[in-house]
Amino acid sequence: MTSTTDSKRDFLSITDLTREELLDLLSLAQRMRRGQESGKPLAGKTLAMIFRKSSTRTRVSFEVGTFQLGGHALFLSDQSSQMGRGESVHDTAQVLSRMVDGIMIRTFAHREVEELARHSTVPVINGLTDLLHPCQLLADLQTIQAEFGDDFQRLSVAWVGDGNNMANSWLNAAATLGFELRLACPEGYDPDPAILEFARNATRVVLTRDPREAAEGAHVVTTDVFASMGQEEEAETRLRDFQGFCVDGALMDRADRASIFLHCLPAHRGEEVTAEVIDGPRSRVFDEAENRLHAQKALLAKLMGEGS
Ligand code: CP
Ligand code: NVA
Repeated sequence: MTSTTDSKRDFLSITDLTREELLDLLSLAQRMRRGQESGKPLAGKTLAMIFRKSSTRTRVSFEVGTFQLGGHALFLSDQSSQMGRGESVHDTAQVLSRMVDGIMIRTFAHREVEELARHSTVPVINGLTDLLHPCQLLADLQTIQAEFGDDFQRLSVAWVGDGNNMANSWLNAAATLGFELRLACPEGYDPDPAILEFARNATRVVLTRDPREAAEGAHVVTTDVFASMGQEEEAETRLRDFQGFCVDGALMDRADRASIFLHCLPAHRGEEVTAEVIDGPRSRVFDEAENRLHAQKALLAKLMGEGS
């Protein structure tokens, strides 16, 4: 996790964790899922949650997770806080640092989260930016581990769709854990070039225009909406550009016999995935959603818990 002062660590990207730290965090999340961790490491502590974009899973998992760990979570939106009226990230960081023990933020520009982390003296967690969604990857990796075990290096993951914040986060996860990542993205919708290059130097990465090539023999097939939050005006164009990038039964049939389907949700049935797949036997999307709670609790305990 990024260390911006001697006494705190942030989580802005999966690459803020070493492989060992990531596996350790996933183990803690699994123990939490099994009910084997009953401590209250956040007793008396408060998490501020800044949401500049909508959320269901991220808000609920952080809020419920903080409560279950003995702490209190505070919801701040643009409508209800001075950030929405233009108060600077710099001032917000300093003020919140005087009152709370950690800050989770969901926003547009990734540099805003970096700036918040730079000026905060408490841990900052990235709850999604236009560039990355690392908290989702914790839950996704936990879901994969529950299905296939610890040996990530033998696995192949197929990403089908937009080279967005989720695709970039999958690249970071592949680089950290060493699994193969095959991305099928339409022309013009590739992942971030620097993150792609970083992952290519660390593990097996394939970028193709053909979803069938990506899915062939994959253990995990995953996708996301064609238009992310903030891209609503591009929705129609994207619907045209992403033709042929729907995960359907025929595509899943190319994957490994034991393959699973993941989606961070919310989903648009009939666009990036058919109902047959997302509601079918290979889908693990609701385990994946539940794992947001366990993974977020593990992260909070590591960053904000006693002795962290
Ligand atoms: N997957 C995810 O982050 O969901 P929300 O947008 O509902 O938080
Ligand atoms: N790529 C999507 C993920 C939502 C959880 C978005 O940014 O809107």
